[in-house]
Amino acid sequence: MPLRQTVRTFTSLPFKSLFSNTSPTFTSAYTRTMSAFSSAAAQRLAGKTILVTGASAGIGKATALEFAKTSPSVNLILTARRVDALEKAKAEITALPGFTGSVTTYKLDVSNVDELALFETEVVGKHGLDVLVNNAGLVKGVEKVGEISQADIDVMYNTNVRGLIALSQIAVRHYKSKNGGRGDIVNLGSIAGREPYVGGSIYCSTKAAVRAFTDSLRRETIDTRIRIIEIDPGQVETEFSVVRFRGDVEAAKKVYEGCDPLTPEDIAEIAVFAVSRRENVVVADTLVFPSHQAGAGAVHRRS
Ligand SMILES: NC(=O)c1ccc[n+]([C@@H]2O[C@H](COP(=O)([O-])OP(=O)(O)OC[C@H]3O[C@@H](n4cnc5c(N)ncnc54)[C@H](OP(=O)(O)O)[C@@H]3O)[C@@H](O)[C@H]2O)c1
Repeated sequence: MPLRQTVRTFTSLPFKSLFSNTSPTFTSAYTRTMSAFSSAAAQRLAGKTILVTGASAGIGKATALEFAKTSPSVNLILTARRVDALEKAKAEITALPGFTGSVTTYKLDVSNVDELALFETEVVGKHGLDVLVNNAGLVKGVEKVGEISQADIDVMYNTNVRGLIALSQIAVRHYKSKNGGRGDIVNLGSIAGREPYVGGSIYCSTKAAVRAFTDSLRRETIDTRIRIIEIDPGQVETEFSVVRFRGDVEAAKKVYEGCDPLTPEDIAEIAVFAVSRRENVVVADTLVFPSHQAGAGAVHRRS
């Protein structure tokens, strides 16, 4: 495959390491091709206001960083419940060489409807919005139906479903009233929303709800330039399993034993790739596995 095509197939920098040729001719061709590639994505994102929920860790934090690396003039609004972790993410982004955009952090619990009402007027109204990444989400426990606590059901539904829906409504209202019907919503679904598994009835059903909501919303907005994007990861190593096992790090590690899971950066690159396409291109639906996985329960483990 020619270099130019190879470059167009993937997103930003890490694949530079695939090339070991350091001759001046090669390096110059590489640099020209890279800057041509970067400028298309960078230009399309330039100056955009991008809200990432759950940006204190994992996929959300990696996505915020990837937006800033791809287009240094983006204005990022980072939200989560842990303010100290958000401030660390902000420090990492603002320290990126050449970053000229802005990073604003807000403590926001997406499961709290009152906070979201305030967020619409105080934050979206003030900063504007071009891209919403509905990433905040969690799973609690592996209990089977009949044994699941009401508190766990509530926290998963309120965060993964109600929070995502409320923020989507805020974004759609803003895109229609202030952006001339333009803007992006990226919803983090999961393989769990397509393939339910034992011990995951609540989490899987929240992600199935995200999928149905996202599909309806895409149909409802085809008379606008609003793009509705869903990304469904398989196994990604983040704090996700630590949260599932209520802080038991050893139990969480076992999930990835003998596996080579995706990294949060793998998903971040796909989110940024999707949002930085030409306005008429919608990367509507993406299922992403590590190479040893082919379904929720179809995971090959090295013995
Ligand atoms: N990891 C996987 O294998 C995997 C696979 C498929 C899909 N996903 C989805 O990917 C998304 C990100 O997960 P992750 O793997 O990056 O997990 P993670 O490392 O645990 O990060 C989850 C993020 O969500 C935030 N969050 C949780 N509850 C929140 C609330 N009520 N309000 C605001 N923020 C909240 C957390 O921040 P605070 O704690 O600071 O609030 C954190 O920043 C989730 O929607 C998850 O369902 C993950």
